[in-house]
Amino acid sequence: MNMRRFYLVYFLILFSGIAAVILIGSRTGMSSDKWSEEERAAIRSLWLGSLAPVPPDPSNKFADDARAVALGHRLFFDKRLSKTGTVACATCHIPILNFSDGVKVAKGIGITDRNTPTIIGSAYSPWLFWDGRKDSLWAQALGPIENPLEHGFTRAQAVNLIRQDADYKKRYENIFGAMPKLKDQEGITRAFANLGKAIAAYERKILPGPGKFDFYAAAILHNVEPAKKSQLSPDERAGLKLFIGEANCLRCHNGPLFANTDFHNTGLPSSDKGRSQGVSQVLNDEFNCQSRFSDSPLALCSEINFAKKGGSELLGAFKTPTLRNLSKTAPYMHAGQFKSLRDVLDHYNRAPKARIGQSELIKLGLSGQQLGQLAKFLNTLEGPVEAKKGLLSPPK
Ligand code: HEC
Ligand code: HEC
Repeated sequence: MNMRRFYLVYFLILFSGIAAVILIGSRTGMSSDKWSEEERAAIRSLWLGSLAPVPPDPSNKFADDARAVALGHRLFFDKRLSKTGTVACATCHIPILNFSDGVKVAKGIGITDRNTPTIIGSAYSPWLFWDGRKDSLWAQALGPIENPLEHGFTRAQAVNLIRQDADYKKRYENIFGAMPKLKDQEGITRAFANLGKAIAAYERKILPGPGKFDFYAAAILHNVEPAKKSQLSPDERAGLKLFIGEANCLRCHNGPLFANTDFHNTGLPSSDKGRSQGVSQVLNDEFNCQSRFSDSPLALCSEINFAKKGGSELLGAFKTPTLRNLSKTAPYMHAGQFKSLRDVLDHYNRAPKARIGQSELIKLGLSGQQLGQLAKFLNTLEGPVEAKKGLLSPPK
């Protein structure tokens, strides 16, 4: 073979090799896994691998006490902790529904005016409830027990339940010391707060596990080709690109839980005052971080010490919820205003005027196809609950 012929064949083989790589690459999506430095930084910030350990709660000395977890686990599923003997925390926070209930507004003894949020990862939230009217998980847990529409119990009845059940009493006294006397009001309130602290210790163990997005993010952040089952489809990738770019979702849904810790008015059909009421409630709450039932030195109550106490932006503002594990928590928003993710996204796209206060949303003008891609991306945030197996069902 002469030299010219040799080179011709040589280049032909080389080029067809390169063409094949490009073709296969684009078919498996390799070529569209190229993200800019800025996009990679955003993906890293959302990746579950960036989630810090559950922050300590200095207001609850028993927050990480295994005995408190076991007691809290029992209380969470116990229907006797209600006026009718029919309502437990788990009545509305149903483990197989990602600790939500699947209905528009929650129903206990009566019907409330708010939608049940998940408790997965709520240990990371400095404010609890849609309006942030509680500043710790333990103080939050006391709310539904005394709410006439939820458990409809009293603190004295709750403490009596512990007193009269030998197993509860033993567990309680083992952690917190002697039960209060029957007529000791202050002691009863303190014991009631302790029940909240045990329930909080349990809730701190209910955490989000990785979804398809997280496996994908791990791969691209480590510059390896995503495994087949963690490869995002072209639509899911387009949705991710919109989420961190043009659609501006990252402004409020940021960090590995896809939630900042702030309150925003998103112009929902509602005349609920939201945070503007919640902030005065938490400042006056008898169980807040500054209260005598808190185990924290006042100086460590930084959230409440520095909370934004007024301003028109609090009117009609609600806490940004996590976007992880949305598949079983519909309907969405603080009063379950929207039945599906598509309805939520249509709302963001239109950005209507708020009924109360001022909406912070800006019209997106996305196409129907783009909204579909965003919804598909959100579905990649579905993962298993990260918790010891026994904790997801009633204790044996
Ligand atoms: C009747 C249904 C119902 C029951 C029973 C119930 N919850 Fe809830 N839970 C809700 C609703 C509704 C909200 C939101 C209410 C609001 O924001 O005003 C909520 C909010 C929460 C939150 C706040 C989550 C967040 O991100 O802000 C936690 C934590 C929680 N509940 C735990 C509990 C615990 C613990 C119990 C039992 C002591 C309990 N719930 C009983 C319906 C219920
Ligand atoms: C200005 C802040 C802000 C921006 C921007 C924003 N969100 Fe939200 N998002 C919120 C708040 C606050 C809520 C809860 C509102 C309420 O119930 O009153 C919410 C609720 C949601 C919910 C319902 C979750 C649930 O459990 O009920 C979804 C889904 C959602 N947002 C997705 C998105 C997507 C996708 C984008 C981008 C297109 C986006 N959000 C942009 C603040 C924001």
